[in-house]
Amino acid sequence: MYKLFFRLVFTRMDPERAHHLAFRWIRGAARVPVLRTFLAAALAPRHKELRTEAFGLRMHGPFGLAAGFDKNAVAIDGMAMLGFDHVEIGTVTGEAQPGNPGKRLFRLVNDRALINRMGFNNEGSLVVAARLASRTPLLRTVVGVNIGKTKTKTVREEDAAGDYVKSAERLAPYADYLVVNVSSPNTPGLRNLQAAESLRPLLSAVREAADRTATGRRVPLLVKIAPDLADEDVDAVADLAVELGLDGIIATNTTIAREGLGLASAPALVKETGGLSGAPLKARSLEVLRRLYARVGDRITLVGVGGVEDAEDAWQRILAGATLVQGYSAFVYQGPFWARAVHKGLAARLRTSPYATLADAVGADVRKPV
Ligand SMILES: Cc1cc2nc3c(=O)[nH]c(=O)nc-3n(C[C@H](O)[C@H](O)[C@H](O)COP(=O)(O)O)c2cc1C
Repeated sequence: MYKLFFRLVFTRMDPERAHHLAFRWIRGAARVPVLRTFLAAALAPRHKELRTEAFGLRMHGPFGLAAGFDKNAVAIDGMAMLGFDHVEIGTVTGEAQPGNPGKRLFRLVNDRALINRMGFNNEGSLVVAARLASRTPLLRTVVGVNIGKTKTKTVREEDAAGDYVKSAERLAPYADYLVVNVSSPNTPGLRNLQAAESLRPLLSAVREAADRTATGRRVPLLVKIAPDLADEDVDAVADLAVELGLDGIIATNTTIAREGLGLASAPALVKETGGLSGAPLKARSLEVLRRLYARVGDRITLVGVGGVEDAEDAWQRILAGATLVQGYSAFVYQGPFWARAVHKGLAARLRTSPYATLADAVGADVRKPV
């Protein structure tokens, strides 16, 4: 039914407009108590066997919403209502900014993919922090806060750490976990921060900022990396994460690669600049995740994201080393029952697997002797 609706209505609309419309419906539904309760009961069922613990946080299940969908923390309850067991808001930048001008989100329907060059459009750390501070949660969900660098002339690359620190100071008190995003392709210079010599001082500064303002608890700190890193650089980030005692790594963000991805969409679309997400990203994201797990094992929690379309994909991420799994693009194509289907399918897979718990399955494919 959603697929028919998508074809008849959403595909005829500009993708960003369709996003805002769907977003408004989700927020609207979550504001009506009867509807919220009914939908949450139907779409966020609790499978006991899927209970998950990640960086000290207890969750009902491993599947959550990736960053970028709810940039300003306005629909957390709505997304929880749809069955996402954690919601990562952001990317939030130090200062408010409009993002890139013009058309900046493209659907590659035949490839089940998206290209975006949104450029961190968001209301900024001050407004988002105030919103989180005054929020009364209607549904229980874990809220991750993803932070990035403001893209204006006022924040130069060498001042990036200061901009992240500003966001961390303001947002850490309201974050169940904090993510340093150094991997979006749409902010010039951002991905250079993934190099160990830039990343080390940045992560240390954000850690200190979070400890300064989120008093009385240690906010888990994660870093989100790009699939376009060379394998040696993936290893370097993994080693650095261990060295700094980071809590997690999120792999991966969108890719700037296009070639060899089996794209079936119009060449003009494929040529749009920006980050590619969805099905064509699946193989590389999985590969990066496996590599990370082989390097860090259980010392650091891994979050698998990129091209996850169904329960089988989510299961493969868990076997490759992910404790948590996230998705974004497939939600656009699959609709409101998607998170429920993923959790249901995961529970079924776990039941017929040799593993007693989900935690036992994490990384099982990588640990297996070949
Ligand atoms: C329109 C759009 C906006 C995004 N914005 C952000 C963002 O602000 N911060 C971020 O860390 N990732 C962002 N992402 C990346 C997603 O969180 C995710 O890492 C990526 O899309 C791969 O997952 P998917 O294949 O399930 O979409 C965005 C993705 C899309 C499609």
